[in-house]
Amino acid sequence: MNMKNLLTLLILFSLGYACKEEKTRANIGDWEEMAHGVWKRSIGEKEGIDLLGAAKIRPKLDKLNEHALMEFPMDQDRIVVSREKNKLLLRFPLDREEQIYGLGLHFKTVNRRGNVYDLHVDHYGGRDDGRTHAPVPFYVSSKGYGVLINSARYLTVYVGTTVRTDSPDQPVARDRNTDEDWNPRPLSDMVEVVVPDTNAEIVVFNGDSPLDVVRKYNLYSGGGYLPPKWGLGFTYRAHTLFSANEVLDLTTAFEEKGFPLDYIGLEPGWMNRSYPCSYEWDPVRFPEPKKFVKALLDKGIRTNLWMNPYIAPKAELYDAMLPLSGSHSVWSGIVPDYTLGETKKVFSEFYKKNQLDIGVSGLKIDEVDGYDFWLWPDTATFPSGVDAEQMRQVYGLLLQEMVAELYHDKNERTYGLVRASNAGGSRFPFVIYNDYYKHEDFITALINSGFSGLLWTPEVRSSKTGEEWLRRMQSVCFSPMAMINAWSSGTLPWSYPEVYDEVREIALLRMRLLPYIYSTFAEYHFNGTPPVRPMQLVEGFVSQAQFIEGALDDTKNPYKMATQRELLDQFMFGENLLVAPVFAGQRSREVVLPKGDWYDFYTGEYVGAGEIIQIEAKLEEIPLFVRDGGIIPLIPAGLRSPRNGEKSPLEIRHYGKAEGNFMLYDDDGETFDYEKGMFSWTRLSTDVGFKGNVEREQGDIFNYEGISWRFMSK
Ligand code: GAL
Repeated sequence: MNMKNLLTLLILFSLGYACKEEKTRANIGDWEEMAHGVWKRSIGEKEGIDLLGAAKIRPKLDKLNEHALMEFPMDQDRIVVSREKNKLLLRFPLDREEQIYGLGLHFKTVNRRGNVYDLHVDHYGGRDDGRTHAPVPFYVSSKGYGVLINSARYLTVYVGTTVRTDSPDQPVARDRNTDEDWNPRPLSDMVEVVVPDTNAEIVVFNGDSPLDVVRKYNLYSGGGYLPPKWGLGFTYRAHTLFSANEVLDLTTAFEEKGFPLDYIGLEPGWMNRSYPCSYEWDPVRFPEPKKFVKALLDKGIRTNLWMNPYIAPKAELYDAMLPLSGSHSVWSGIVPDYTLGETKKVFSEFYKKNQLDIGVSGLKIDEVDGYDFWLWPDTATFPSGVDAEQMRQVYGLLLQEMVAELYHDKNERTYGLVRASNAGGSRFPFVIYNDYYKHEDFITALINSGFSGLLWTPEVRSSKTGEEWLRRMQSVCFSPMAMINAWSSGTLPWSYPEVYDEVREIALLRMRLLPYIYSTFAEYHFNGTPPVRPMQLVEGFVSQAQFIEGALDDTKNPYKMATQRELLDQFMFGENLLVAPVFAGQRSREVVLPKGDWYDFYTGEYVGAGEIIQIEAKLEEIPLFVRDGGIIPLIPAGLRSPRNGEKSPLEIRHYGKAEGNFMLYDDDGETFDYEKGMFSWTRLSTDVGFKGNVEREQGDIFNYEGISWRFMSK
């Protein structure tokens, strides 16, 4: 072919391409403004199920509209949607300096730019590739906007890895032989998404800051969940084959050892059969379930039950569920189609009669994530017609929604565990956990949970040494669920006597911090502010993202590559506490302090301002820092969280020199009466002269009496 022909062909080809894009773009319609700072665009004819539909989100539009009106955050022309046969190809702009966070629960990295993610609900396999327990298709940009793709398909997201020949910001072509700056990953100016479907919804959020965007995403999903007060206390999951008496004896041991315990988890052995399950109490280990649950409740301890969704052929529920289940079995159990109202009704009635009505306080919903070789395959079919791929992406959401409703109808708050979630899950009473057990990676997962409306627990199971046990216990106390999950090892909080005092100390500190933690969750519920905040969402944090030169390697990686330095091991727990966990073996660590003065939580001493400090890792302490003017309300350490109506004295700590302001939330801690206005917000503030003020701003449910101030840095 000669040059002229080639050129004509190229022109024709690009014209054809442009026309196709134009045509489909015209069909897409405009962005619809859902609330201040939130826009939605629907593409194609909606069919089947999507993530937000499965989660039955109830956007908090009033709350969103309290935020200022905003402009659409991107150049609309640079958002391109095209349809290729049975796929949608989406394209969003990306600036040179922009960083991208989110896309769900990841364990090793925080910065998403420069990678490709196949978002697929799965067990986490050790690589941040998108296969994870909660592959939420929502990302937030350092520029202060966010994008959600509401589709229950397996999406592929290219975050700043692709370059189009017509990209406005073209990378320079360099000669690898001679140019030092040659890079195997040339600059990309877009995020591209493949949706293997003909319909999807895009929701765009704009905010004053990345934190503001995450708030709006959470509010759009219905606001975060407000756990019952007991849910924020301590929990222990007993050995799977324990009997009722062994569990009761265990709770007595907790009391004798002076270790806090608010709820206890029973693992598969509470059922007469599991994997597949019956949801029937085992008559030998638990002959009188009602009496057992009541005996625990009389001691002030709640019961949480493990389950997986797969129903055994010998289960009472089997016959009713069979016609409502999918074509394939999992561990020889049937897979109920929980998109159907009838299926939910069958389960709910059974659960109500045998568990809920006898006082069981919640569930651990296991095995709803992966592995591929265990779960139903993509060839499975379901009676509702929802296909297997979509079912996989939403199954965790469906179960969470059903259980949340059951407890809501009873006007009783629950708090449990789940192993899979997705977009829209913020309002559900569930914390994600998994079987992967790397302390460092658990902290990175905790950080990432804050970008995506998820709650995660870096649970403690067992440890090789007392030091590791203590370090893990210190971390779990600064997470949404303080849990020891000893279903297999039977390890007890006091199993390492050499560190028992330190372990107990930190557990009691968690109990002391309950007013702070509860108010932090109220901010999540009412305002969408995530309780665990990645540093990238903190005002005054200067991203340490910097590029470190990689090596030129002639086997694994024949390219010299720049790798990004990330901050994977510190976060904010609520507004005022900076947590810098220490891992076994570590004797010192770096802490990146955002702008402003920072103080040591334990002593009130000044530690630095907007800088990187090197600290010594004391065994008995998890490093905690408070921002200037930070206020932390505490109660005396109890072995249980305060019950409905129980009054506690309040110690209010103030750190630094600046005037402080903290909104203390309270309600009955157990029911949903706060939805009817039965709660209070109290402003705790100080002025320059170290004088503390307590002013009620709203409501009158207030379970504190005897208020004292402590000025830690005076
Ligand atoms: C696992 C789960 C564990 C434990 C166990 C019981 O799948 O992740 O936490 O519940 O099942 O068999």
